Amino acid sequence: MDTVFSGIQPSGELHLGNYLGAVRNWVALQDEYRCFFCIVDYHAITQDYDPAALSKRTLEMAGDLIACGIDPERSVLFVQSSVPEHLELCWILNTVTPFGDLGRMTQFKDKAEKQVDNINAGLLNYPILQTADIIIYQARLVPVGVDQVQHIELAREIVRRFNARWGEYFPEPQALLSSTPKILGLDGQAKMSKSIGNTIALGEDDDSIRKKLATAATDPARVRRKDPGNPDVCNIHTLHTFFSDAERIQWVRSGCTTAAIGCIDCKGALADNVIAHLQPIRERKQQLQANPERVKEILHEGARKARAIAQRTIAEVRARVGLWS
Ligand code: TRP
Repeated sequence: MDTVFSGIQPSGELHLGNYLGAVRNWVALQDEYRCFFCIVDYHAITQDYDPAALSKRTLEMAGDLIACGIDPERSVLFVQSSVPEHLELCWILNTVTPFGDLGRMTQFKDKAEKQVDNINAGLLNYPILQTADIIIYQARLVPVGVDQVQHIELAREIVRRFNARWGEYFPEPQALLSSTPKILGLDGQAKMSKSIGNTIALGEDDDSIRKKLATAATDPARVRRKDPGNPDVCNIHTLHTFFSDAERIQWVRSGCTTAAIGCIDCKGALADNVIAHLQPIRERKQQLQANPERVKEILHEGARKARAIAQRTIAEVRARVGLWS
């Protein structure tokens, strides 16, 4: 059975973009693979963040992942900083990572532009730690969005160099891209993201879901009710494709293109379906929130399992590299 590894930043509460773009796929992968899912708090501190809020966000993220269907009986769910062996491997990988490649990473350049007063070495070395995360479990498959493909390509390069220098040991990981279209935020402009504030959160109440969808952007060319619209450029239509059945999606398409229905009708139907879909997830989320000790226990157990494997890898790596023991 192949091993899957993926990581997510501890941004606190999950939103629809995380759920549709990533977590839903992770849940499905559990049936076929041995899976590791990691909340990457060491990565989080490379960006501007609030130290007092971080561990709370990590816990909330864990609860949301479980509520969505990450099953601790089948998958290893853990927090990155509970397994400090990732850092030891990261240091070793530093010595086979080409310096020039790091500065060329698009994400590094984007983040550096956003936080000019905090362009730290961790931000530059971010993809090396990401590589360590993956290969310390000998994972071959990494479910990620297209924005992470460049990091996975670099991970492959780092693995080739490790293997060339210290002997064939790690498999080259591969990105596992899903066919999920990009989930835009309520503004219809940017990818759904907590930092932009254009999200619907997983735990949002019904009223708020309805209100947010009611003011969400649609096809900008559809100005008046009688103008026909183009569902292919409408984020509300994209969301229907996830939450609505074939009949409803057909109703949207024909109603929109002929102006038989208005955006308000279309959004109302979407809100009904989003609410119905999130209902069981929200219930589980509330149960877990009421029992944080249970979530901590799951993370503790996940860390124990992950750490046992990571320690075996590190022992082997130390011997190959020639470190003192
Ligand atoms: N960089 C990833 C992101 O921002 C998170 C991440 C950290 C990750 N380590 C990873 C993803 C390992 C996949 C594998 O989304």
